[in-house]
Amino acid sequence: MATVILREDEVEQLIDMEEAVNAVEEAFKLYSLGKASMPPKVYLEFQKGDLRAMPAHIMGYAGIKWVNSHPNNPDVGLPTVMALMILNDPETGFPLAVMDATFLTSLRTGAAGGVAAKYLARKDSRVFGFVGCGKQAYFQFDALRKIFDIGLVKAYDLRRSAAEGFADYCKKAGVDVSVTDVKDVCKCDILVTTTPSRQPVVKASWIDKGTHINAIGADAAGKQELEIEILLRAKVVVDDVKQAMHGGEINVAVSKGVMQRDDIHATIGEVIAGIKPGRESDDEITVFDSTGLAIQDVAVGKVVFENAKKEGKGLKMQFFKI
Ligand SMILES: NC(=O)c1ccc[n+]([C@@H]2O[C@H](COP(=O)([O-])OP(=O)(O)OC[C@H]3O[C@@H](n4cnc5c(N)ncnc54)[C@H](O)[C@@H]3O)[C@@H](O)[C@H]2O)c1
Repeated sequence: MATVILREDEVEQLIDMEEAVNAVEEAFKLYSLGKASMPPKVYLEFQKGDLRAMPAHIMGYAGIKWVNSHPNNPDVGLPTVMALMILNDPETGFPLAVMDATFLTSLRTGAAGGVAAKYLARKDSRVFGFVGCGKQAYFQFDALRKIFDIGLVKAYDLRRSAAEGFADYCKKAGVDVSVTDVKDVCKCDILVTTTPSRQPVVKASWIDKGTHINAIGADAAGKQELEIEILLRAKVVVDDVKQAMHGGEINVAVSKGVMQRDDIHATIGEVIAGIKPGRESDDEITVFDSTGLAIQDVAVGKVVFENAKKEGKGLKMQFFKI
């Protein structure tokens, strides 16, 4: 009995976006049907950052992601975020795999955006706006282009070089791109926001009827990308009610008392499972508030582990005297 150890470069080869989208869609659905368990994240706070433990049991696997966030790490030559996942057999508790989960975090976040847009955006969406063109934007784009026929990408980032780098990536994928101002980017069918902002970047007056927004950047208390007015006008769908109220895009509106639990239309899992409707007219504004769930991590970790087994990949480590 050995544990499989998988490096980041190996994990990247063992799962593609299509597999991730399917796994995440199924995970959201199972969670909404009560067929998964996911205790709340546990945080260890430090002066320069934090570490989070994210456990879940779903699809026949148990797992935990142990992930840090240290914004000043680039100064000492380390990434801001580094994540490892342990995947266990729930029958025995045996650790089946230890794998990099840094790439998986971005992949499953992109996949969640793709799944949400599939259920909430207009089917004929052609123009895609990106506010924030860092790491997550690339994965959001990769997932969305699996689902939609993208006619035009509009890109904006505080750092123009980031917007231009992202534009080059989209052009290489055969998509027309315009690097433009934030107001113009918001005139689109599907808007994706992936900034770490603590002030609204997107104004309510810029958002037309019928727009779908993937609000990805706010994943901790105090973070906010959209003016609250947008949330009040929109049909708001979250990945998880508690997490969203605590740290998702709606957290600031909730803490100010202008939004309550009842203002959340549904979880994305409830929409996928058909328990609650998704988009009901071409005119409504829809917002997907993504905070990132441990069930997503275990769902994609499962795919990686099963593909590694099939392909005989990874280092086999016998940790215990069995
Ligand atoms: N919802 C989830 O599951 C999930 C998962 C991963 C990351 N995140 C969050 O997404 C955000 C982005 O993560 P990332 O890995 O892409 O980071 P990143 O640093 O690679 O990219 C962020 C980009 O936003 C830009 N930016 C910052 N403030 C801006 C503003 N006011 N207007 C326009 N652009 C601005 C930066 O210049 C940068 O290019 C973070 O807040 C992160 O915590 C959420």
